[in-house]
Formats: sequence, structure tokens, C-alpha cells
Amino acid sequence: MTPEQAQQEIESLTRQINYHNDLYYQQHHTEISDFEFDKLLEQLIALENQFPQFRYPDSPSQRVGGTITKEFQTVVHQYPMLSLGNTYSEEELTDFDARVAKGLDGEEYEYFCELKFDGVSISLIYEDGLLVRGVTRGDGTRGDDVTANIKTIRNIPLKVHAPHLPKRFEVRGEVYMPREVFLKLNKEREDIGEERFANARNTASGTLKMQDSSIVAQRKLACYAYYLLGEDTGINTHEEGIHKLEKWGFDVSKTYKKCHQLKEVFNYISHWESRRGELPLETDGVVIKVNSLEQQETLGFTAKSPRWAIAYKYKAESTSTRLNGITYQVGRTGAVTPVAELEPVFLSGTTVKRASLHNANEIARLDLREGDFVFIEKGGEIIPKVTGVDLSKRKPDAKHIHYITHCPECGNRLVRVEGEAVHYCPNASGCPPQIKGRIEHFIQRKAMDIDSLGEQTIRQLYDLRLVKSPADLYDLTKSDLMKMEKVKDKSAENILKGIAASKEAPFESVLFAIGIRYVGKTVAEKLAKHFKNIDRLMEASYDALLEAPEVGEKIAESVVQFFKAHENRKEVERLRKAGLKMAVEEKEIKPVSNVLEDRSFVISGVFQGYERDALKDTIIAHGGKVLSSISGKLDFLVAGENMGPSKKEKAEKLGVRIISEEEFNQLLAGKKIG
Ligand code: IVH
Repeated sequence: MTPEQAQQEIESLTRQINYHNDLYYQQHHTEISDFEFDKLLEQLIALENQFPQFRYPDSPSQRVGGTITKEFQTVVHQYPMLSLGNTYSEEELTDFDARVAKGLDGEEYEYFCELKFDGVSISLIYEDGLLVRGVTRGDGTRGDDVTANIKTIRNIPLKVHAPHLPKRFEVRGEVYMPREVFLKLNKEREDIGEERFANARNTASGTLKMQDSSIVAQRKLACYAYYLLGEDTGINTHEEGIHKLEKWGFDVSKTYKKCHQLKEVFNYISHWESRRGELPLETDGVVIKVNSLEQQETLGFTAKSPRWAIAYKYKAESTSTRLNGITYQVGRTGAVTPVAELEPVFLSGTTVKRASLHNANEIARLDLREGDFVFIEKGGEIIPKVTGVDLSKRKPDAKHIHYITHCPECGNRLVRVEGEAVHYCPNASGCPPQIKGRIEHFIQRKAMDIDSLGEQTIRQLYDLRLVKSPADLYDLTKSDLMKMEKVKDKSAENILKGIAASKEAPFESVLFAIGIRYVGKTVAEKLAKHFKNIDRLMEASYDALLEAPEVGEKIAESVVQFFKAHENRKEVERLRKAGLKMAVEEKEIKPVSNVLEDRSFVISGVFQGYERDALKDTIIAHGGKVLSSISGKLDFLVAGENMGPSKKEKAEKLGVRIISEEEFNQLLAGKKIG
């Protein structure tokens, strides 16, 4: 492909992707499938890596992340990020209204009501329409620059296209993790034996502070904008600001309402109190703002919060019901979860029958006794939780509830690791839910993707003693399968086809599928990339594992333990024999040009426009050579941020030319450098 063709193609792909992105996030409708969308994005990223000079500053490829931020820079807010005063009753709100009326000295005024979104507040700075910075609230005066992570949030415009834009403006909003995304993430965490996250808000907040923006991208955060700030925005009311934000492509929750009287504000509050479960995120109240900016200015601020706005907080929805007993669920990793079985009770829109009690500490903390009446609350995530015991209803002789000592499924004695809250059933190879759970984990989409099998089939296959481990799947015959209920010729063939097709799954999927504790899909991908094949991974020491990206002590220890176990090694060998991929397939790099011919490179540090591997591929695609160590024969050391000092020293000593990423891009464009 010639550079001219590449430029045209990058332009066209960028345009198409932006079009579909806007369609999805602003008009909530789609014309192509997720798969097709991802394909377009992949093509764009590949081309941009080969021809970085043609990448647009607001390229949608930034949405997938890739930059690593070691430490976030502190940035002073141009306008401090204040908090809001809280009210909890109509009386308190009436007092607020009286203060506003007095402050405005008899002038007419109106309110603009919005929901108070329970996420993480963010300040987004735009210059010449381009998103230049995203900063957390921090202490209100200064926050962390989390721009790389913010850019992965797909409903935050990277560039605003509109006539008469102010040169510089700031948008405030709330970054959140949609309820659905949060529930799915927790399910995935449970699947790999990780502790569940407590709530969506903290998860969103933790995610924004992650160092690897590609992981942030996978977490699918979203943002609601609710405030436009700037010198020359040309607005006179908050409402106009909100409409501008909508026009400029920001996602504004359509739940706002202008109210002329306090009574309408009360109606708004009670309207959303009963409907807040329908929203994609939790709201803990309502924000009431004086609409006119001039009046806002008249009212001014206290040290901490504006006098022109206030929050009204909803009470947590709670009720009490009888605890009928506790049951215990055993998961794939053997973790035991106690569940409160409740006398069914209606709570904000649904009937609640069960609530998770998490672990033994929680039962002890609540000091639960048989026959207790417990208070339950619906958290923002709609999973009810037990918050306490109604002691007024406790019988004096109520018996203590003791945590089980043996597995309810296989009878094995439970163990509890020092310092951990959770009890485990250690009988991994003989405990039915653990066995079935491992096979379910193995066949899931992100793993071997065998969609001709499901929970029901696995249960039957297990009950018929046909399958006790994932490797057994590959020994199944048609007649085996036809022993199952309702499975005829055709469906048996279909199942076999699905199993056979799974042999094409890439190594990283196999690595995720075999179910090493704490190894999720992302970590499996990093391990596969780093170790290249299963044999090197199996032999890797604890220290060698720690050198792989994303791997900390917990994961390293877990991998070592996994491969220490004889039965796991045996299982891997059986899977290998069955024909599963146990090594990464080196991708073929298509030659693009020969501008770097006869030149050798070592790369070091972190780069703005490339992931390390992409930079290596680019060099090779343009005819260059990538070396791993510095010698006198080396032509260039490409220096990224945080380059190791020893590399720099060595290069200087040997007189090797050190070039920046920018200079590298010039070389690539066929230009001479300085
Ligand atoms: S306006 C000066 N509007 O609540 C007033 N804040 O306690 C600026 N919040 O840190 C805030 N939803 O993160 C405003 N619709 C909304 C909001 C909202 C949530 C958060 C925000 C802020 C906190 C104030």
C-alpha cells in the first residue's frame, strides 16, 4: 500500500468509526454489529501503526487504550470542584428555597433539577474542540490527570465538532460503571476466584486510577455530563448549558426537569424515588440548581459549596423480614458463599427471597441467630443485602448460627486460609459443583467458546459419568452423547462439531480456559504473549512470573501452585494431545516499505503512539531490524518515557544514536533527522 492509499484508508476508516460511534452513543441505535465495528477499529489500528504520521489527534483508536501511566500528574483546577450541601427532608429543602428567595431579594427564579449520579466526578478540558485533559476531583483544588484513561470512555467526545465553539471550555460530569457492566465484571471475577467488587461506584473510581489504559477500556465506563464552564460559552442559564452539551455530543441523562415552584421539585423527587431502579446506574438523590447564571453569581458560594444548588438525598430502601435459614453455595474454585434464605418480601419493585451473606465474618458481624428478623436493603446494584437484625423481635432463647464445617456438596472438611475471609472446599477433583464449574468455565465464550454445550448438557454429561474434566470432552463419541435426554443424531453431531472447532481457539484462550485461579482473560493474554508457549510457562519460576506484565505476587503464586499439581499437568498433556493450541502463533508481518532497510533498533520505555509490540512490528514492516541489546553495531535506540538509565548510559558510551518517538516517526516518513 502506498502512503497516499494508507492516508485515504485511515481517513475513511476514521470517518466510518466515528459515524457508528456517534450513532450508538447519541442516537442509541446501530447499523452494524459489534463484530463488524471491532473489525473496522482493528483495521484502523493496524494501519495507524504502520503509518503513524496519518493518525488523527482524535482518532477513535485511542478508545482501546494502551498507554501505561506510572504516576498520575497533579493538576490544579481552574475552577475548584466544590461539593454540594445535603438535605434529607422537604423541610430542609423549604429552608434552602427560603434562603435562595432572600438572597435574590424578591426576584423571580426557577430551578433546574437533575439526578445525583453516584459515580466519580470528572473535569474535562477542551481546547479548540479537542479533549486535552481529564482530571479527577481530588481534594477539590487539585486532582489527578487521568487523560489516557478518560479517552477510553466511548461516550466522551474526543473532539467536539460545532460552529462557534469557545476556544477553551470545561465540562463536568460523572464517570460511572453501568450496572450491567458491573454485574458482568463481578461474575467474571467470581469465575476466576477473585473477590467480588463491593459496588459500582468504588469500582469506577478504582478503574479510573488504573495504570494500564487498555484495561480501563475493557471495563466499559461511561460518563454523564452535567455542567458547562468557561469564559465565552454564551449561555445565560444552566439549562442552555445542558442543551449545548447535548448538541456538542456529550451524553446528558434525559432525566432533568426545569421547575418553577418548589412543589414541582417535590414531585420530581418523588417521581424518581420510585423509578430509580430503571436507570443504568445508581442515583442517591437529586441536585437542585438555580437556573439563571446571573442569579447563581448573586447567590455565590460558601467555602465548600455553592449557595445556588443543593442535593436532596434519598433514604436507602429498606425493610425487615424473617430469616428462614442459611444455605451454602460452592463455586468453581471451591469458595463457599453463605446465602440468607428469607421469607419473601416486596422491596422497591421486586420480591426478595435471598441475599448474599458473603462469608463467615459477615455472619459473625451481624451476630445472626435462628429465627431472626433481619433488615434488608437494596444497594445500588439491586442485589439485596442484610444490614442488621431487628433485636426487638429476637426470642431470648434463639440459637446461635454456626458456620458449616464441611462441604454441603461433597462432605469434605472446609479450610480457611489464614487472613482470608472465605472458606474453601479443598476437594477440587471430587466435589461436583467444582467439577461442573470448571467445565462451564472452560466452554464459555471468552475461553474455548463451545456454544453447542451449556450448563444443562454439562450437568447431564457429568451425571452420566461421561465427563469429569475438560479433557474428557475431546474423548466424547456420538453414541456417548446420544445417551443424554432428548439428544438425537443431529444435535449430537452439532455438539461434536462445536468441540472440534474449539481446537482452533488461540493459546491465550486455552490458557484462560484451564482455570488457573486469578488468571482472567487479560492476564492470560499477557502471559501468553510473554511466555509464548505452555512449556515455558509451566517451568517458569515465581520470580520469572513476576517479570511478566500484569502479574503480581498473588497471580505468580497461583500459577506456580497450579502447575505443581500433578493432575493439572496431566490435564494439560491430555488437552495438548487432543490438539489444542499450546503456543502463540507468530503473526506474519506484512512488509510495507523498505525505508528502514539496513537499520537496527532497540526500543526502551513507554511510547505515546505505540504499544511496545506494535512499535516492533512497525520497524519490521518497514524493513528494519529489532535487536534486544545494545552493542556498538546498533544504529538507533528509540527512547520512550521512563527509559531505563543503564540502557541510556550504555548507548551513550558506545556512541549509539538515541532518538525520540517523534524522530522515529520522521525516519518512517522517509525524512532525514536532525
Ligand atoms: S453539580 C458546584 N450535578 O455530586 C456544583 N453534581 O456533592 C457542582 N454529582 O462531586 C456539582 N450528579 O460528583 C452536580 N447532576 C449533578 C450531579 C453531581 C452527581 C456529584 C458530583 C459532585 C457531588 C457534589
